[in-house]
Amino acid sequence: MTAYGLLVSPSHNRVYAQAAADLVKAELSVFSERALGGRVEDIAETSIGGVPYVTFTADGLSETDVRLLSNLSSLYALFEIEDGGLLRPVPLAPLDVFGSDLLTIQKYSGKTNEYFTKLLLNVTALASDAPLDLIDGRPRVLDPMCGRGTTLNQAMMYGLDAAGIDIDRKDFDAYAAFIKTWLKNNRVKHQAQVANVRREKSVLGRRLHITLGASKERYKSGETMEITVVNADSLGAGQFFRPGSFDLIVTDAPYGVQHGSRPKGAQPGRNGRPELSRSPVELLSAAVPEWAGLLRTGGAIGISWNTFVGRRDELADILASSGLGVRDSDAYQGFRHRVDQAISRDLIVATKE
Ligand SMILES: C[S@@+](CC[C@H](N)C(=O)[O-])C[C@H]1O[C@@H](n2cnc3c(N)ncnc32)[C@H](O)[C@@H]1O
Repeated sequence: MTAYGLLVSPSHNRVYAQAAADLVKAELSVFSERALGGRVEDIAETSIGGVPYVTFTADGLSETDVRLLSNLSSLYALFEIEDGGLLRPVPLAPLDVFGSDLLTIQKYSGKTNEYFTKLLLNVTALASDAPLDLIDGRPRVLDPMCGRGTTLNQAMMYGLDAAGIDIDRKDFDAYAAFIKTWLKNNRVKHQAQVANVRREKSVLGRRLHITLGASKERYKSGETMEITVVNADSLGAGQFFRPGSFDLIVTDAPYGVQHGSRPKGAQPGRNGRPELSRSPVELLSAAVPEWAGLLRTGGAIGISWNTFVGRRDELADILASSGLGVRDSDAYQGFRHRVDQAISRDLIVATKE
């Protein structure tokens, strides 16, 4: 057995930093269970030289194992802990095809933490019937409530095709403006268009479609990535995308609380406490059957939500009613964490059987 020590990224905000070690431990358990044959053991927090590490043991990690682990959401550095206690760096090979500013530049109230978004995408990808496609395939990703695109940017970072839907016109416009500027400033070869989506003379919504290449050479040779965002109600998602056309659906559901200056149906409460709005569970129970139709058999869906406005078993029932099998191993149940006084976030993942 070899011992390993993992340093958690120091760039977390204060609240996420408090949860980060527990989240990485749960994420590591999912990686082990779904793609490493359960070979990762003894996952713990250990202080080495006065610095907190997440430590674990594993027998002989292969090159593929390390490539996979290199994409853990909060991984900063990985070391093999030698018998004498010396740390030997393990060279990492993350999928990232762009600089991290793609995920970090945008700052707005209501943004899903980018590390958490990566975690949600990872554990959803690993739940599918082809977990190693995360590093060796090109799973197609949909975020049906994509806001200003954190999931889309993470998928793009991984070199994947991604699509999103959001009902909020301001979010759609802000994302379109951001991504076009980012691509231009970073000299990423691309084509971008915004057009109305019409059916029988009526406009169903607006669509942003971007074709881009991770490098000029790849763009020229037709090795491109596609980002599509639709400004419409997700309950009509089936009007915009073909049935079974996504491998992964990943979304951070509305929290049922007001975010700063962007009211989403909730009024500010008394005493400065945000007040809960109508339950997002109702939205999910209407939307999940529609989204399930867009997922291929064997594909996976991951939803994060505020546990103050919906119970885990309610979400599990919604997913099961759409023919989705909930992953309920201990590994998938270790993600609940505090975001703020009004939000205790958890995630639930299911596969289409
Ligand atoms: C928690 S936010 C997602 C934030 C996003 N992950 C980001 O980082 O920008 C939830 C999103 O759901 C969207 N939403 C709520 N109801 C919707 C609906 N019926 N159809 C599409 N989007 C919806 C909201 O506009 C909001 O942007």
